Amino acid sequence: MNNNNHIYTTFDKIKDRSAKEVYLKQRGKVIWFTGLSGSGKTTLASKLEKRLFELNYFCQILDGDNVRSGINKNLRFTEGDRLENIRRIAEVSKLFMNCGIILICSFISPTDEMRNMAREIIGEDDFLEIFVNTPLEVCEQRDPKGLYKKARAGEIPNFTGISSPFEHPKNPFIEVDNTDPDMDGNVREMLKRIIPEIRWDPSEIL
Ligand code: ADX
Repeated sequence: MNNNNHIYTTFDKIKDRSAKEVYLKQRGKVIWFTGLSGSGKTTLASKLEKRLFELNYFCQILDGDNVRSGINKNLRFTEGDRLENIRRIAEVSKLFMNCGIILICSFISPTDEMRNMAREIIGEDDFLEIFVNTPLEVCEQRDPKGLYKKARAGEIPNFTGISSPFEHPKNPFIEVDNTDPDMDGNVREMLKRIIPEIRWDPSEIL
């Protein structure tokens, strides 16, 4: 039973986010990659993390397959389970972000409802949505995990793009054309947009 009647939160007793951001010399944010399976989210996320780390930013990646083998291993791919997947990830991301950490989240997060829920939990100003817009045909042709083939053969139910919907985000912070083989160029363009959002300005505490 879900009993929330005797919950006494202590958020007010926890050291404030901005003090932690000063300590880390960065702004906590959530960079949220959305796109089809095989669109290149994971590759872009890890390239982005590597560059940010080289630039002394402290990040944490949360990725679909990893999270689904741990905290969310009890969830499948029905719409309800995907919503719960994204809800938990958004809540966990918020906890990290409130420690001043930059989250790089990489989840199909296929519907407006799911992405809006994540945005609402995390907060509009802190949620940087990156749409990896790789067409279904390209993802299916790449098929790095062989999942599209299995989905077409009817072996995987509710497969995104085949038997389950993917709604294109309407107004992403960044849209990446990931058919472009120059991934490093994409990462550079992303950095130009992201760095102003995560940069910490020491003059703020003078
Ligand atoms: S989400 O829709 O709930 O956001 P998530 O990003 O966590 O999905 O997980 C997607 C990964 O799970 C895919 O990259 C793929 O490897 C795997 N997967 C297994 N079954 C499915 C399915 N039915 N639809 C999409 N991805 C699936």
